[in-house]
Amino acid sequence: MKKISKGIILAGGNGSRLYPLTLATSKQLFPLYNKPVLYYPLTTLMLAGVRDILIISTERDLPAIKNLLGTGEQFGIQCSYKAQTSPRGLPEAFILAEDFLQQQASFLILGDNFFYGHQLSSLLEQSIAVTTGAHLFLHPVDNPSAYGILETDANGCIKGIIEKPATFVSNLAITGLYIFDEQASTFAKQLQPSARGELEITDLIKHYWKQDHLTYSMLGRGYVWYDVGTPQSLLQVGNYVEILETRQGLFVASPEEIALRLGYITLDDLRKYIDKTPQCTYRHYLENLIHYAGHKNRI
Ligand code: DAU
Repeated sequence: MKKISKGIILAGGNGSRLYPLTLATSKQLFPLYNKPVLYYPLTTLMLAGVRDILIISTERDLPAIKNLLGTGEQFGIQCSYKAQTSPRGLPEAFILAEDFLQQQASFLILGDNFFYGHQLSSLLEQSIAVTTGAHLFLHPVDNPSAYGILETDANGCIKGIIEKPATFVSNLAITGLYIFDEQASTFAKQLQPSARGELEITDLIKHYWKQDHLTYSMLGRGYVWYDVGTPQSLLQVGNYVEILETRQGLFVASPEEIALRLGYITLDDLRKYIDKTPQCTYRHYLENLIHYAGHKNRI
């Protein structure tokens, strides 16, 4: 696998852990400090070189998400949309995305997942290069019983994959970012719902593991991964973004900036976009990108 051009953002679900915040809107539209939650997984895909993106959400929330991202043209990408009528589980993304994928490998990212770390894009590129079937991104957590967990032996060989283990097995969480090859839709259609009535992503992953087509990358201590599915994590990640941006003067997860740096849009495209943006801190940040473009002493 040399390049992956397609990505899926799964941004549905009930948001039940965030009630009553999610009674009228989707958590993926909440503010994560100064940007909508969705900008963070969107830019993670962009950093992986993905420009053709399907956003899956509920029938209720899709119109608002479309208002936010539109065609994606402003970010030099292509956004399309699909409704999931009920939260039947993460692998359903590949069933709903079958036409979109056209039998190609893809990234899947959960719409509430936040990734941050030095040289994340290089790590994503390397991961694409080593993937033959499916690829996972692991991160140590203090509460492994809340996640899908990977167990390895002393040599790093995979020994087990357990969804939300009741007792301690490993602290390596399987984050909500995955690479799957072109067979994901076929395998997803063969899965049976678990005891909680959902198709489980860990069952899809096991399919690849059994065929010895599963690899993983470690997002170690130098990375930050969160899902912002609770009030506490929303606040914690929002504070984290605020601290970084205030210290460095560099925004986290600005799709316009990433599009410009990756050459998806030109300075002229950005100028036109800024003209339509109201006076605000975000506009001033984008104006500074143009002002300092090419300056050798400014990142
Ligand atoms: O965040 C990583 C974890 O995500 C993994 O470690 C687990 O293996 C994986 O099962 C999943 O666990 P969660 O408990 O976080 O899954 P949850 O049901 O909360 O769904 C994750 C996100 O996907 C959530 O933002 C809602 C969305 N979703 C979920 C389901 C089940 C959908 O859009 N559609 C769905 O059908």
